Amino acid sequence: MILLHSKQIVYAFSIILIIIVAYNFGYYNAEIKYAFHTISTASRIQISPSVVVLSTAAPILKPEQTNAEVIAEPSTIKSSKQKPTVVHLAVVLSLSKQTSHIAEFYLLYESWRFLHNFSPLSQQIVVDLIVFCEQPSCHQLPSACIPLSYKKKVDMIATCFHEILDEKIVQKWNDYLYMTSIEFMLTKEYRKATADYDWILRVDQDAILSPGLLIGLARKHPRKLYPMQFGGIGHGITFTKNRLRNIAKKLGYNHAGIHDLCSTWLVNPKDSVKIANLTTIIGRHILKNEFGAHVPGIESLPAIGEWPKWWRGVTSLY
Ligand SMILES: *[C@@H]1O[C@H](CO)[C@@H](O)[C@H](O)[C@H]1NC(C)=O
Repeated sequence: MILLHSKQIVYAFSIILIIIVAYNFGYYNAEIKYAFHTISTASRIQISPSVVVLSTAAPILKPEQTNAEVIAEPSTIKSSKQKPTVVHLAVVLSLSKQTSHIAEFYLLYESWRFLHNFSPLSQQIVVDLIVFCEQPSCHQLPSACIPLSYKKKVDMIATCFHEILDEKIVQKWNDYLYMTSIEFMLTKEYRKATADYDWILRVDQDAILSPGLLIGLARKHPRKLYPMQFGGIGHGITFTKNRLRNIAKKLGYNHAGIHDLCSTWLVNPKDSVKIANLTTIIGRHILKNEFGAHVPGIESLPAIGEWPKWWRGVTSLY
């Protein structure tokens, strides 16, 4: 009886042991596969409408010219006759700690990796990815994204870098979080890291890169592109445009008549800092002074404005 009893215990233990081993094996594999990707299953992934509004379109921003059609004109990149010039592009973004944003970033990351398949173009156009992550999202990045401080100069190997987004920036824009995705470009870490690139492509975390980017930067598009392929998605009406021109005048700026730029910028590094600076300064003014029932001309609108006439949620795009 006692013998039988201990045998049962041994069987029971063996079965439990097998279950534990099997479970751990599965878990271990999942850990490897999704290392650093500890997205909680408790929070459902959702894409908020505002993220969609602030996404995807890519106008070419050249301050001295007036619309997106300039893409088909000769580039400012020096074209050398002796050997093909390598073009260095940095795709830059900030990443909040929201689960849905981290999930979206993984698509961007994989699309960036996909570019590496397009040899020889991918050797001619070297695309780095630079992420300013709001903690704790830095821990959830792919392990291949190394600290930005490791970067010494632009080189021939496409690399993903990360830098912790300063908590002060997050605090400063706690009433309008989207602006952190622009303000990070004013940090000395960003300016130092990007100075040597030919181009900066500033994107939101829900962007996806296509190999067409390589073809475009190599000036090998077989035919002229349409402006609509570069954004220009309207986020306002005539009322909005007139209002923005008037605000520009009031603040002492020259409005260049360029509207509907959307959130993706393809610019040189110096311009990226200038535009980010203007966007945060003017954005702060708009958030502080251009919404509310006390503001002349929009007395009848709610405090958040009214889409698409005048809408607080797209201030960083104005
Ligand atoms: C941003 O603009 C202000 C005002 O023109 C200037 O004082 C400041 O140095 C600029 N900051 C950067 C990072 O360029």
